[in-house]
Amino acid sequence: MLWLILCAITVTLIAYLYRQRVRHMSILERNGIHGPKPSLIWGNMFEFLEGRSVDRDANWIKQYGKIMGYYFGFRPTVLIADPDLAKNIQIKDFQHFVDRPHGTTKNGINADSREKSMLTRLIGKRWKEVRSVLTPTFSASKLKTMSPIMEDTINNMMNIIDKKSKTEEEFDIYDMFQNLTTDVIGRTAFGVQSNVQNEENNKFLNAAKALFNMKFNRWIFLMSSMSYERMTASNDRDIQVNAQKGVKNGTNGVKHSKSDISLTDIEIIANSVLFYEAGYETTSTALGFMGHILVNYPEVQEKIREEVRELYESDGKLDINTVNKLDFMECVLNETMRLYPPVITFVSRECLQDYKYKDITIPKGSAVRFATHYLHHDPDYWPSPEKFDPFRFSPERKHEIHPSSWQPFGSGPRNCIGMRFALFEAKLALAKILMKYRLEPGPNTEIGELSTECKAVTYTPKNGVYVKAVKI
Ligand code: HEM
Repeated sequence: MLWLILCAITVTLIAYLYRQRVRHMSILERNGIHGPKPSLIWGNMFEFLEGRSVDRDANWIKQYGKIMGYYFGFRPTVLIADPDLAKNIQIKDFQHFVDRPHGTTKNGINADSREKSMLTRLIGKRWKEVRSVLTPTFSASKLKTMSPIMEDTINNMMNIIDKKSKTEEEFDIYDMFQNLTTDVIGRTAFGVQSNVQNEENNKFLNAAKALFNMKFNRWIFLMSSMSYERMTASNDRDIQVNAQKGVKNGTNGVKHSKSDISLTDIEIIANSVLFYEAGYETTSTALGFMGHILVNYPEVQEKIREEVRELYESDGKLDINTVNKLDFMECVLNETMRLYPPVITFVSRECLQDYKYKDITIPKGSAVRFATHYLHHDPDYWPSPEKFDPFRFSPERKHEIHPSSWQPFGSGPRNCIGMRFALFEAKLALAKILMKYRLEPGPNTEIGELSTECKAVTYTPKNGVYVKAVKI
């Protein structure tokens, strides 16, 4: 008799759990968001991991529409390629989507505290506070103080290019840019002379590369385990510590109305390490793609060179104020990052309450992810989307662009905090190179479309970017 009761309870329990699971795994469909049928055990995990992420997203969007849904394990996720909805979520109704998707660790139960302290992972009020403390780090005046360090590091790269040009050697400019951006962020954020540019097989760069090639969660965790001494040992470290001091005692030019907000030591460590990693891979990738465009479009290269020369003749120097006047270079950078966005899967948010849009509802607790690459190549918003046309971003035509259809740095209050830093570094490096050298194709240069690789977060040149530098 007891056995019978136990069996009945077990069967009822299994039936209940099964119904619950079926209900959970149909939440998107029931709210009008269509997508591939999920398995009750692993959702759409296998389809998600199959092939290149940009192709998978494009196929899903073609099949199910510009607002489609899938299950990352049990986690309902809405993929968005509708720029109007993107604008609502990222800007207009941001208060319902403040956080990045909470991980399976719920950003707290199991997550390492350093990992949780990174700006990318912080949630709610604390994210807002830390963001407001760190934002002045990237102000025009702070960038100006970083300008000499950046310039010195770029000059180091120029010496390397000079040697290559003398031997007429073809080289991988993407690799060279990775070394440059590692040294720049090492010196500006940590005050460390990482010396990546002058050393083969540098341990700093190897560690950074290994981290980026890992699974996302693991690299964040490992990055945050780097030593504190490395940062405190330096004299000219700048970014993070000034932010903390400035807020604590109102000095160092960090103006903040809420003087009671300060960062904990863990937050300083976590965010310095985050800046290091975020600053190295993304900026060098944008520069690498630019290298490809410049050798493939010599007339565009020439036009930028003329612009830089004119600027240099009129202003006599290249710094944050002057490089920001390089309007045509900016159009080329924008168009390059449209065709080749360096960050493809990271623009995402947590839906904090049920959100209605037209005839669908995004259920509370879903993750929302923006299809950056698809948005940048959508023929509904970009005529001849595969054509390289920097004049799309010219003052005359800029108004034709839907602002949310172009977002290499994300959008809204949670966009990339390092955008100005990255653009300044990229423009300064390119201006200096183009003033002295013409970049030409070599035997290994890819002509036409570049082979690319989709990593966990980034989109990068697959086989490097080969060029020759000819002194002018
Ligand atoms: C070309 C270079 C770069 C690209 C393409 C890029 C791209 C992005 C993107 C797409 C996001 C997500 C934005 C969103 O969700 O709306 C982001 C966030 C972020 N980026 Fe960048 N980034 C670049 C350079 C940098 C640099 C140089 C730093 C720091 C030194 C940096 C630090 C960050 C941080 C901390 C966040 C998280 C912001 C937050 O959650 O409040 N990035 N970046």
